[in-house]
Amino acid sequence: MTPALPASEGFSYREHRLHCEDVALDTLAQRCGTPLYVYSRRAIEDAYAAYASALSGRSALVCYAVKANSNLAVLDVLARRGAGFDIVSGGELARVLTAGGDVQKIVFSGVGKSEVEIEAALNAGVACFNVESVPELDRIDAAARRLQKRARVALRVNPDIDAGTHPYISTGLKNNKFGVAYADALALCRTAMEKSAIELVGLGCHIGSQITEIAPYVAAADRIIDLVNQLEREKVAIRHIDFGGGLGIRYRDESPPAVADLISALLARLDARGQRDKTVIFEPGRSIVGSAGALLTRVEYLKPGESKNFAIVDAAMNDLIRPAMYDAWMNVLPVTPRREEPKRYDIVGPVCESADWLARDRDLALQPGDLLAIVSAGAYAMAMSSNYNSRARPAEVMVDAAAAHCVRRRETLAELFATESRVP
Ligand code: LLP
Repeated sequence: MTPALPASEGFSYREHRLHCEDVALDTLAQRCGTPLYVYSRRAIEDAYAAYASALSGRSALVCYAVKANSNLAVLDVLARRGAGFDIVSGGELARVLTAGGDVQKIVFSGVGKSEVEIEAALNAGVACFNVESVPELDRIDAAARRLQKRARVALRVNPDIDAGTHPYISTGLKNNKFGVAYADALALCRTAMEKSAIELVGLGCHIGSQITEIAPYVAAADRIIDLVNQLEREKVAIRHIDFGGGLGIRYRDESPPAVADLISALLARLDARGQRDKTVIFEPGRSIVGSAGALLTRVEYLKPGESKNFAIVDAAMNDLIRPAMYDAWMNVLPVTPRREEPKRYDIVGPVCESADWLARDRDLALQPGDLLAIVSAGAYAMAMSSNYNSRARPAEVMVDAAAAHCVRRRETLAELFATESRVP
């Protein structure tokens, strides 16, 4: 019996071997080594299409949140489909431009944009800055005047909505550092209107990530629409409303609603409240790439313990930090399942930290040398990796039907300290 997997997301068992699209993962691991990130191009494209098609016929922009997975190939695949991009740094701007993204579809989010980053974005000509504070607005205005440009700006409002997600990834509550306080939003819009180099084009919010219900989005949308209506009464016209990130995904037993249902609920609110003419922006990250990726890792040792059995694998917290950081449950699948009786294991890495675990209490039949796939690892996985313990980061492969393209080669050890030097 092979473990069940959703069929649509690029990974499936064929004759007891786990495949990504038409590529057998054991063969791929042999060829490229482990740990190895593997992505399904088709799954990424399908996930993007779910947003794009639900928005067809409307003025809309789907801006993929680059932070979720910033590999150039991922950005390239999405740019070719017409995606926009949500960036949070000058580094992400450079990546999107290098990958062929359309600068006129870039929105620049983040609470701490530096002067250098603002100038780079103005020179590139991004669609808009999502502004989160008064001093940031001042800084953008000053930079735009210096460069003799006008900066398009959307205000990111904190709607004070509980999205019911992990505290570390909830962003729309009063006590979060994000967004402009709801009560101050109108005043800030008026201030923005007075600045010579600022053009106020939108309002937006972001309430958190891995949200698996529609209700908090609708509640936040209503709060934003209240503000837009109020501004219109004051003859201030706004062009777009940005609803922030996308839906959560299924890691274990979550059942997030369909993207189409989220979008139709939000569009219905806009229509009902006289805002049909607004351009709609979404900034989905996780739901575009999350289910489209897996981390392949090989069992190095089996270590029976008094109260626990450990399977020590060659991937570690530096490669995938979500379990250590958020207590996240990630699904672990054998690439070629064995028929023996399973035992209960903690799957841990070689890093010298007790927090270096990838999964706990999993019933698996394992032997040293076996390959495991940690699935639903396309988002916030490689993007959050580090070189802790001087470990070279994994390679990444983009599978496209029967083809497997290496889209990032494994780091060499020399590269780990290539920017360092000994004292003179
Ligand atoms: N827009 C903004 C302004 C954001 O801050 C985020 C995510 C997104 C869009 C994308 O949200 P998504 O569609 O992916 O839910 N590292 C954490 C997740 C952090 C999310 C931060 N902001 C994790 O591994 O769960």
